[in-house]
Amino acid sequence: MKILSTNRPVTQIEADAVVVGVAEATKAAEVISGPARQVDEATGGALARLFEAKEFTGKRGQFTTLLAPSGVKALKVVVAGLGPATELTREVAFQAAAGAAKTLAGKSCPQVAFYLGLNWPADVAAAGISGAIVGCQGQDLYRHEKKQYPFDEIHWAGANQATIIEGRVLGECVNLTRRLVNEPPSDMNPAAFADTAAVIGREAGFEVEAWDKARLEKERCGSLLAVARGSAREPRLVIMRYSGATGAKAPTLALVGKGVTFDSGGLSLKPSDSMATMKCDMAGAATVLGAMRAIGLLKLPVNVIGLAGLVENMVSGDSYKLGDVLTARNGKTIEVLNTDAEGRLVLADVLCVAVDLKVDSIIDLATLTGSCMVALGTDVVGAMTNDQSWCDTVLAAARKCGEPAWQLPMFPEYGELIKSEVADIKNIGKGRWGGAITAAKFLEAFVAGKPWTHLDIAGPAFLDDAKPWIDAGGTGAFVRTLVEVARGWKS
Ligand code: BES
Ligand code: MN
Ligand code: ZN
Repeated sequence: MKILSTNRPVTQIEADAVVVGVAEATKAAEVISGPARQVDEATGGALARLFEAKEFTGKRGQFTTLLAPSGVKALKVVVAGLGPATELTREVAFQAAAGAAKTLAGKSCPQVAFYLGLNWPADVAAAGISGAIVGCQGQDLYRHEKKQYPFDEIHWAGANQATIIEGRVLGECVNLTRRLVNEPPSDMNPAAFADTAAVIGREAGFEVEAWDKARLEKERCGSLLAVARGSAREPRLVIMRYSGATGAKAPTLALVGKGVTFDSGGLSLKPSDSMATMKCDMAGAATVLGAMRAIGLLKLPVNVIGLAGLVENMVSGDSYKLGDVLTARNGKTIEVLNTDAEGRLVLADVLCVAVDLKVDSIIDLATLTGSCMVALGTDVVGAMTNDQSWCDTVLAAARKCGEPAWQLPMFPEYGELIKSEVADIKNIGKGRWGGAITAAKFLEAFVAGKPWTHLDIAGPAFLDDAKPWIDAGGTGAFVRTLVEVARGWKS
């Protein structure tokens, strides 16, 4: 996709469609300015009339399309509501551009020019550009007749080259994560994910190392290997090293992702309805890979290590069993009482590897528990931590990017629920209560006290139904937040 900066008047640009932004107000005269005013004048007051009829008020999420308007070269004008002018955030920009893009992409519309705000701050404009890239991309990878046709060319008014690069990288990396999640699980298996990571590492400038089964045995990753045993496909542990810091003693940030390429539940088999979308269970790993690509392409001056634990959780004559006791890389013994609580078993070893690589702070992302969705709903990420100030840093980045997250407590009492009679720890709590937190308490046992924030992305990583600004399927949630954290990381 080409992305170009433009300063042609909105009425004169040769494109299939133009998008103009209008802030919220009650009187047309108060808000119809800039490109929207030019469209209004060229069309003999079309926008003002829509305002007067209260057909369009500039509220967030409102989109109105003018077809073949006179005086405008483009065939369509989409007017996007931006909400109150005083509340212009990255989230507003992202959703306005993405919503307009999704509307237009329903029909083939190769060239689209965005005139959303000519004087937006650079980070807000970049969020808008990334939104346009995300909004026009659908999940119909394998449909012959597409529901969404991605644009060939985006023209953006009011952005310089650096802003365009930033927006393009963020949008494309969110789409990369979405595509990895949307690929069918038999195709996007552990080895295929590792191969994809190697290709992306070469493109974006980070080193990629993949541990296969033999290496994982040598590295004593008994917990991850137990989950993998039920599958005919071998597991992988992918280590991605990006070194952008100049200082010799610069600290390292670790991004750890759960990469269960399909979660059948294992012997604790899921019912079909819950299993249907379990290709999404590698979203944590896909988010880490998407963020690593962005960090590499943007050449952020920091050191980041991405780690992904990749397995299939399947059923076979050699599946791991309830009652099994596993030994993780750090020597801790784990009693398995439910093979569907597999994500924490995979992450246990990957977190140990991060610790052994002497990283300074850790973020892990995982579609870890249905309980987190019970607690927070499907749109909010659950955050849990052993270090409040590190968690505050991550939550501040999320807020800046407009990606909702909420912290859950980690009181020691929750740890009592995962004590085992036969091993050091067990992989499920007593009953279902507090399931998101008992899962996090389990993970905490493998981070050796390092500053660590766990993000349970089970809800936001995957949409059952489309939203006005994004198709259903993988969402790429938290790619942008991870890049924002890396941006603020010490170099
Ligand atoms: N991958 C699932 C969690 C999940 C559920 C992700 C729905 C996305 C949507 C995870 O491996 C799982 O099965 N968790 C169990 C844990 C339980 C057995 C303790 C759960 O949440 O039900
Ligand atoms: Mn599971
Ligand atoms: Zn799972």
